[in-house]
Amino acid sequence: MVFSSVNWVGDEDGFIELIDQRQLPGKFVKLRCRDVQSIGKAIQTLAVRGAPAIGVAAGYGLVLAIQNLPENGSLKSGLAKLKDAREYLGSLRPTAVNLSWALDKVYGCAEKFVIEQSQANLPLLQQCVLAEANAICQEDKEMCRRIGQNGQEFIKNDYGILTHCNAGALATAGQGTALSIMYEAKKAGKHFKVYVDETRPLLQGARLTAWELRQEGIDVIVICDNMAGWLMKQGRINAVITGADRIAANGDAANKIGTYSLSILANHHRIPFYIAAPTSTFDLTISSGPDIPIEQRSADEVQFVGDKRTVPEGVKVLNPAFDVTQAEFITAIITERGIIEKPDTGKIATHLH
Ligand code: MRU
Repeated sequence: MVFSSVNWVGDEDGFIELIDQRQLPGKFVKLRCRDVQSIGKAIQTLAVRGAPAIGVAAGYGLVLAIQNLPENGSLKSGLAKLKDAREYLGSLRPTAVNLSWALDKVYGCAEKFVIEQSQANLPLLQQCVLAEANAICQEDKEMCRRIGQNGQEFIKNDYGILTHCNAGALATAGQGTALSIMYEAKKAGKHFKVYVDETRPLLQGARLTAWELRQEGIDVIVICDNMAGWLMKQGRINAVITGADRIAANGDAANKIGTYSLSILANHHRIPFYIAAPTSTFDLTISSGPDIPIEQRSADEVQFVGDKRTVPEGVKVLNPAFDVTQAEFITAIITERGIIEKPDTGKIATHLH
């Protein structure tokens, strides 16, 4: 992978460097975030996006939260800043559980450090927070590679694979989840095509997945979202592979709006439907899909394509950013630990144990 979507540059006084995904594929531009507000804005406006990538970015956001405190400041003030930043950043993308997962992990580590280390001071707390954020970033890279290796068996020579949104390197700190499977299948010498839904309203498939797969030399064909069923009927799709933003204890999986419809279509045409996600995407506090919070985004995203208004002024629109696919339509969930076939509560509990 020749690029990395999220990076920390420097020591505790460094900054976050992101690929500004709003500008792809037209421009490859890096964005530097030096305070909590700017990383918050980057997360909210999808400059950085994809569940694992926003988790990693938010982890580094906590480093920024305590960066400019005076060296001799109190640990209490440091923890208070971290808490505020955790609440603010965690509220920005409610469906992607990796966001709160990463924030809780970094905050929990800071809290433990303050309680357990008698000589703790602010500079040491800053080091501790950066070390934990770096660990999450490294872990993500490793998880991505393993998901790819575990899932590549599902891609056979001459397959047509359908994917939705972007669950690739741009959406993680590593080589992606769903797309990692494709990268590993290519590495194993397999030939296949990837059909990519353009993914309205923000076109993550057309803009980002097509760009990313092309960079990696994979045969990619963009289709409009409403073409998937017809391609399935024609026998061009042998498997559907997508990512996930949150998976409930019973295997119901939230992903970019449109994924649910694909799962129904795949089921009807007897095409396997795979979800690729790290174990950090499971939320065992939620027993099933209807309890997963669904992010509602601005109507502008539906009313405009770029600068051009496509919906008459005054007309109401809906913009739920995610939907939930029931476990019964998922052939298997592929994680860094292995495969959960026909997922259900028992198999998931065993897998995560
Ligand atoms: O709104 P986005 O672009 O952040 O939505 C991203 C997705 O739906 C991805 O499929 C998901 O986060 C998996 S990322 C590996």
